[in-house]
Amino acid sequence: MSELVNSILNRSSEPRLAEPAPDASVLEEAFACAARAPDHALLRPWRYLIIEGDGLEALGDVFAAAADPDDPLAPKVQKLRQMPHRAPMMIVGITRHQKHPKVPEIEESLSTGCGMAFLLLALEARGYSGMWRTGPVAYHSAVREGLGLAANETITGFLYVGTPIVNKPSVAPAETKSFVSRWPND
Ligand SMILES: Cc1cc2nc3c(=O)[nH]c(=O)nc-3n(C[C@H](O)[C@H](O)[C@H](O)COP(=O)(O)O)c2cc1C
Repeated sequence: MSELVNSILNRSSEPRLAEPAPDASVLEEAFACAARAPDHALLRPWRYLIIEGDGLEALGDVFAAAADPDDPLAPKVQKLRQMPHRAPMMIVGITRHQKHPKVPEIEESLSTGCGMAFLLLALEARGYSGMWRTGPVAYHSAVREGLGLAANETITGFLYVGTPIVNKPSVAPAETKSFVSRWPND
């Protein structure tokens, strides 16, 4: 089995992450992999923010601004403020939507999403781990403004990145026959 296939089959997202975060050369390689994402009309609709150190503290303030005291189900301010500290590094995947006659907006987000998956696989190949999260903070205007997004940009995801503390058991994969069939005759 190829090394790539083997690492995909055995990968797992890790919610518990500690120092060290990847260094500049590992990040450079991983972002180069992200840039190989399929990309309709080569719009390059993605950009990424790397946040660590004091930036995580500032990001906690930005997340806290997304609290909604009127919604009993919404995360509380204290929880929001702590969220960025779940890992030593946060990478924010942002989609820059551009008007194109052949490329609907969803395809631009999908392209960024593919890049984020490649990025995560590249980091995992170097011994790091991560977890892709969204939640209400990904879609809240206070977070979009706090991170300096332009009106035509959306957050595709937050990639929490670091070194796994414990390797959690892999989530059992769905059996391929439960989601693959042939058309028209199966
Ligand atoms: C777009 C997107 C958003 C996600 N948001 C969250 C999230 O907010 N919280 C969470 O616990 N998992 C979230 N996940 C799922 C995890 O990243 C992860 O895939 C899941 O825990 C399964 O683990 P595995 O990758 O080891 O199979 C999200 C995944 C995607 C693709």
